[in-house]
Amino acid sequence: MTVWGAGAVEALGAGGTLRVAPGDVVTPLARERARELDVVIEPGTPAAGGTPAAGGAPAARAAAGSGKAASAPVQPRPPSGALFRRGAPLPPGTGPGGSGAGRVVIVGAGNVGMIAALRLADADLFDEIVLVDIDEGRAAGVALDLSHTAPLSGFATRIRGVGTVEAAGRADYVVITAGKPRTPGMSRSDLIGTNAAIVGDVAARVAATSPQAVIVVVTNPLDEMTQHAWTSSGFPAERVVGMAGVLDTARFQALSALATGGRADRIEAWALGSHGDEMVVPLSRARLDGRPLAEAVGATALDAVVGRARGSGAEVVGLLRSGSAFLAPGLSAARMVLAMARDTGEVLPAAVLADGTYGIRDVYVGLPARFGRGGVRAIVELDLRPEELTALRSAAERIRERLGSLAGVS
Ligand code: NAI
Ligand code: 2OP
Repeated sequence: MTVWGAGAVEALGAGGTLRVAPGDVVTPLARERARELDVVIEPGTPAAGGTPAAGGAPAARAAAGSGKAASAPVQPRPPSGALFRRGAPLPPGTGPGGSGAGRVVIVGAGNVGMIAALRLADADLFDEIVLVDIDEGRAAGVALDLSHTAPLSGFATRIRGVGTVEAAGRADYVVITAGKPRTPGMSRSDLIGTNAAIVGDVAARVAATSPQAVIVVVTNPLDEMTQHAWTSSGFPAERVVGMAGVLDTARFQALSALATGGRADRIEAWALGSHGDEMVVPLSRARLDGRPLAEAVGATALDAVVGRARGSGAEVVGLLRSGSAFLAPGLSAARMVLAMARDTGEVLPAAVLADGTYGIRDVYVGLPARFGRGGVRAIVELDLRPEELTALRSAAERIRERLGSLAGVS
């Protein structure tokens, strides 16, 4: 008798066939993984050989046996203590997490992905968070490390780290941070070719694995990568959004607070347009305790704050010398996911597909949008000054031009 576990199914990969002999046992976790990965469980076929091979991981032996089909019997294994990584994904709403808000998959377990995962785990809202990275060891290591914080932060969310989007299983929300970050001297746009190939591939895999998910893109250049993820996934635009406005707004608020000497969260502002040189902070909408921010800071100083917020990413890159900002970016991505999962109806600045509001159409650009569980509910129109509107439209046009260089990248 052979016990087939989830590991044997995962080793076969999507579309494989698991041949089980009479009397064999397929664990419930293995059946769940088979459903997720489209692995066919073929019952009743007598096992080839007959004597279970000794030693080695059952999953590895099953994979090596016959390519896409496993027929070599394996030894029963004791339950793994590493459920954070190997355990089968839970169907949304059935896990131990606070309110059963489902599963978040974070593709790219680097700096930003790690911080987003930390914040989302702390929220104790989701059944499971899965980190995916081509460096599977990193994903598993970050997941294990993060799982050790459960008693410190007080959460019940399960954490796993895997090497592929397929192994992560179906997700409700997918955060894409996979890609290369900037190095000193690089602009975000310098990353376009390399990251487009990665984001396009990831988005297509997400569409196949999680056809109902909402995708939050973080990878740079942000606006272009969000549009690319939208076309590569084939998802409706309300389910593909980009994170930059939340971060750029937070930077503007934090830097303004340095100028006022007050608290950053008393400042209301919007960072719109592109995540880059065409970032637009409409100062007509910037307020401190409901009063124009310019009254507290002064017009010239406020212009300097806008300039510094626009250059904050490069400023951090220059100081770090390796990699780019990750604390505020990771928290910003998590903030968007939490707003959606909690169905708050919050209005957040985000890269969304313009729908004609603001006189911009058919291009991803940073605009205020109302979020709900299923993504963008509506783009929200703020009353802007003519010059602010012009700046926003010109940001959209610059993004559209840069998208031209993506033609032919799948
Ligand atoms: P990082 O280098 O620390 O992490 C990136 C991770 O992606 C690495 O662990 C790498 O192994 C992984 N990866 C690469 N290709 C992959 C693939 N095909 N599948 C799965 N994983 C893959 O970089 P960091 O700092 O986390 O930044 C990630 C991205 O986010 C960069 O493009 C960066 O420019 C961007 N970013 C965007 C911000 C925004 O406001 N939109 C803010 C900060 C960063
Ligand atoms: C940032 O703004 C690099 O886009 C990244 O920090």
